[in-house]
Amino acid sequence: MKKILIKPLKKIKKITINNLPGDKSISHRAIIFSSVSSGKCILENISQSEDVKNTLKIFSRLSVKSENSGRNLIVYGKGKKGLKESDTELYCGNSGTTMRLMTGILSAQNFSSVLTGDESLSKRPMKRIIEPLNRFGADIYNSEYSPVKIMPNRINENIYFLPSVASAQVKSAVLLRGIYADNTFIKEIYQTRNHTEIFFKNTGSDIKVKGTEIYLKKPDEINCFNMFIPGDISSAAYFIAIGLIYCPVTVKNVCLNETRTGFIDILKKMGADIEIKNISQEFEIYGDITAYPSELKGIKINGDIIPNIIDEIPIIALIASFASGETEISGAGELRIKESDRIKTVCCELKKIGINTEEKSDGMIIKKSEISKEKVLTESHNDHRIALMLSVAAMLSESGYEIKNTECINTSFPEFFDFLNEYTL
Ligand code: S3P
Repeated sequence: MKKILIKPLKKIKKITINNLPGDKSISHRAIIFSSVSSGKCILENISQSEDVKNTLKIFSRLSVKSENSGRNLIVYGKGKKGLKESDTELYCGNSGTTMRLMTGILSAQNFSSVLTGDESLSKRPMKRIIEPLNRFGADIYNSEYSPVKIMPNRINENIYFLPSVASAQVKSAVLLRGIYADNTFIKEIYQTRNHTEIFFKNTGSDIKVKGTEIYLKKPDEINCFNMFIPGDISSAAYFIAIGLIYCPVTVKNVCLNETRTGFIDILKKMGADIEIKNISQEFEIYGDITAYPSELKGIKINGDIIPNIIDEIPIIALIASFASGETEISGAGELRIKESDRIKTVCCELKKIGINTEEKSDGMIIKKSEISKEKVLTESHNDHRIALMLSVAAMLSESGYEIKNTECINTSFPEFFDFLNEYTL
């Protein structure tokens, strides 16, 4: 129950973030694809988050060897049929992505596995993956929540899946089973992040994507690969917020995959002055983002952009409190089943620091407010994205804020304070 005081930023002219750690979603998938690939893969700038470490530990229990040196990781792939049964349960920690994507892979092995998680993960819905995977031939104990108990199975059936939720984790769990099924067809309701599809394409699989439709043919093998993992836009978002409100901020080498850049589109609609330069592509597209202090206005946010910005909504809510008028976010009910109920926790914590918010069943309304000048005590609710959003709020305040339970920041971005220590009072 540690609480820490986050101090305001000093008077500074500009911040540049040169070495943003690799994207968390891409890092999970890089470990998964390299582990079942046919040989040695070199992964540069892998995320050092607890979530990604949990995915790597699980593969080591399944007999995959790897060598880690800082942010560089070498994985010695075992081939798609080379994983071995673990003699212990497989612990996913706080990571929904680990649990859901691993269920897809493990549901097609000839051995059993049990996936467990921490208190928060144990309350998050797993039927959304168990039910479709079982429908396509898997044998997973039918339960609402984890532990996920997976029985041995090697039946190669065709998959025809029309998910009822717009979730990249659900889509990816089924697509990963598609490594072993003859043919896989998925049609999403809205397009969600497409990193899994990009990995299939770059490791030799026959995959075709047309809008929200995906066709995958069973790959004979997953080719080994080397890659640079671009910076995580969900982490860059906290620096970009400082850029729009305080002083110009540049974040280099950020992943600009268009299924992830809805955050930038939303900010531009709000009037943000944002510049993107030095674009490169290698698996994924990436470049440098500069955000300048801007006069922002409130807007309505809803519809098919929601899955694209789902992890950025807490920081968007904070930014919205600096924008004129009001911002209304709707159609974001999925927030209620993230690491915390993020509709409740965002509104509750923003209110504590003086921001006028109204909780709605599937979203929230944020009105322009003056952020509290007092040293308020806030709470992360053990949710990394709430802790990170509150840290930015504290840095933008006059006296700083106290935050309870900030250790959860390690879930996605353990290096966050290292980047900003030199700029705070
Ligand atoms: C993720 C997908 C999103 C996101 C999560 C990471 C992924 O979840 O919130 O942080 O890597 O596929 P859903 O797809 O379930 O919304």
